[in-house]
Amino acid sequence: MTSQDSDRDWWRTAVVYQVYPRSFADSDGDGIGDLRGLIQRLDHLERLGVDVVWLSPIYRSPQDDNGYDISDYQDIDPTFGTLADVDELIAAMHERGMRLMMDLVVNHTSDEHPWFVESRSSTDNPKRDWYWWRPPREGMAGGTPGAEPNNWESAFSGTVWEHDEASGEYYLHVFSRKQPDLNWENPEVREAVYAMMRWWLDRGVDGFRMDVINLISKDPALPDGIVHAGTYGDSSPYLINGPRIHEFLAEMHREVMQGRDRKILTVGETPGATVEDGLLYTDAARRELDMVFTFEHVGVDHAQTKWDLIPLQLTALKAVLGRWQVGLADVGWNSLYWNNHDQPRAVSRFGDDGAWRERSAKLLGTVLHLHRGTPYVYQGEELGMTNHPFGSIDEFRDIESLNHHAQAVGLGVDPDRVLESLRSRGRDNARTPMQWDASPHAGFTTGEPWLPVNPNHTEVNAEAATADEGSVFHHYRRLIELRHQEPVVALGDFTMLLPDDEAVYAFTRSLDDVELLVVANFSGEPVGADVDVAAWADAEVLLDNVGHAAAAWDGRLEPWQALVLRRTR
Ligand code: GLC
Repeated sequence: MTSQDSDRDWWRTAVVYQVYPRSFADSDGDGIGDLRGLIQRLDHLERLGVDVVWLSPIYRSPQDDNGYDISDYQDIDPTFGTLADVDELIAAMHERGMRLMMDLVVNHTSDEHPWFVESRSSTDNPKRDWYWWRPPREGMAGGTPGAEPNNWESAFSGTVWEHDEASGEYYLHVFSRKQPDLNWENPEVREAVYAMMRWWLDRGVDGFRMDVINLISKDPALPDGIVHAGTYGDSSPYLINGPRIHEFLAEMHREVMQGRDRKILTVGETPGATVEDGLLYTDAARRELDMVFTFEHVGVDHAQTKWDLIPLQLTALKAVLGRWQVGLADVGWNSLYWNNHDQPRAVSRFGDDGAWRERSAKLLGTVLHLHRGTPYVYQGEELGMTNHPFGSIDEFRDIESLNHHAQAVGLGVDPDRVLESLRSRGRDNARTPMQWDASPHAGFTTGEPWLPVNPNHTEVNAEAATADEGSVFHHYRRLIELRHQEPVVALGDFTMLLPDDEAVYAFTRSLDDVELLVVANFSGEPVGADVDVAAWADAEVLLDNVGHAAAAWDGRLEPWQALVLRRTR
């Protein structure tokens, strides 16, 4: 391996930190986070030891979906700052040895993007075909109920079709009606996207997190989906992992990533992707993506939709994560996450955010970071931030939550039940401001924050956590350090143990003569772990979230205890 090759492999031991800029740090007192706020807080990330920052969208945007609706890919929204601020951010990060991964949202644009404005202007505009325009259903008048070109449901409730009075046609929007889907069948669209990506790489960014990237290839017939329940049909066979997806991603890799003087890191957000799909996306020989975000493990605690809550079964969670570990063991690569800006806080969801908040947050970090793949830390996760105690619907801001509430209540679902699922699963839980200190608004802003700060910031905050060696923050710092120091953490083989145990999550990792045992008690009761304890009697305790210096581990685990043991063979 030449030195250039090994440099290109740096990312296999890397840890990524996600910044949701709106909620990270506000430098100008308008209540919304910004780039200068992030630059001022880079010390925090450096101290934690992360290698890469994934920055959620900062581009010009009407903010219908908090920046995932982009009206100019090559400019910065004034709310967040300027291009000069981005240049300064890149320089400041590179100086600290960190890399910047931008969010790439190219399944759709904003309806205020000049491409769409042109496309909408007339049926013979050269950009008409850059989006998905269709006439009303045969024999029906546009704009009347049921006249939509097909029966697909938007991810944000209601139909995917918006009727355009002027031309009498409809345009497709899988997300909000302000997020029209780009037509990737059109080579001009693809070229425009690739040119924009190259422009960012030339500016110094190091990678892309690709928003819902497995939705870009659609079946151009856009057929009705089968109706399983309710009024809408299942669009997934025609929308997800579509017919040309691998061709498009390989083309993108060739046109944008290939031949660069440095490794460009890519991760695709791929809802609905199976292990088999994941393998195709991330097989290095196929040159598509480095890794993808699976949704399977964040689907184990809900039924049909994310709003239908069911209790977590640890065995189900282990089955999914274990399957991905095995499936991508030899070819491909996993990304590892509990949290992001779309998911509720992990400690509230999979841990215990009451009496065992700190311990269970450390346990979750331990289990995730000891898997094989690239761990992602979402802002505040390293502090053990929790879900927000939302009251009425008026306190929610997220378009997904508001639309779901309106639709469900409109259909007669008990409003209390709807609120219960929003409180548990709503995306605003992840989006409350980062908790920097115990001062009013948690040091996030001097103004009025766009979303209220969690009242527990007086206790749960970065200032307190960094000052306390026993905090969740320092536990995460150690986990990241361990990955950097012990090759077995990043590269070792993974073997799941005790798949049928409802309380204990246990697995081994091994590389050459080094072996690790990870055991974690996902419950508030002490348990015994049914593993070969004698074989680990002389092992070194690498990490323990309870803090006792366990001389020799006896197989017992305290509530929410997680241990990492190391032995050589
Ligand atoms: C992705 C983003 C989410 C956004 C959606 C539409 O799932 O993570 O925040 O709402 O795509 O862009």
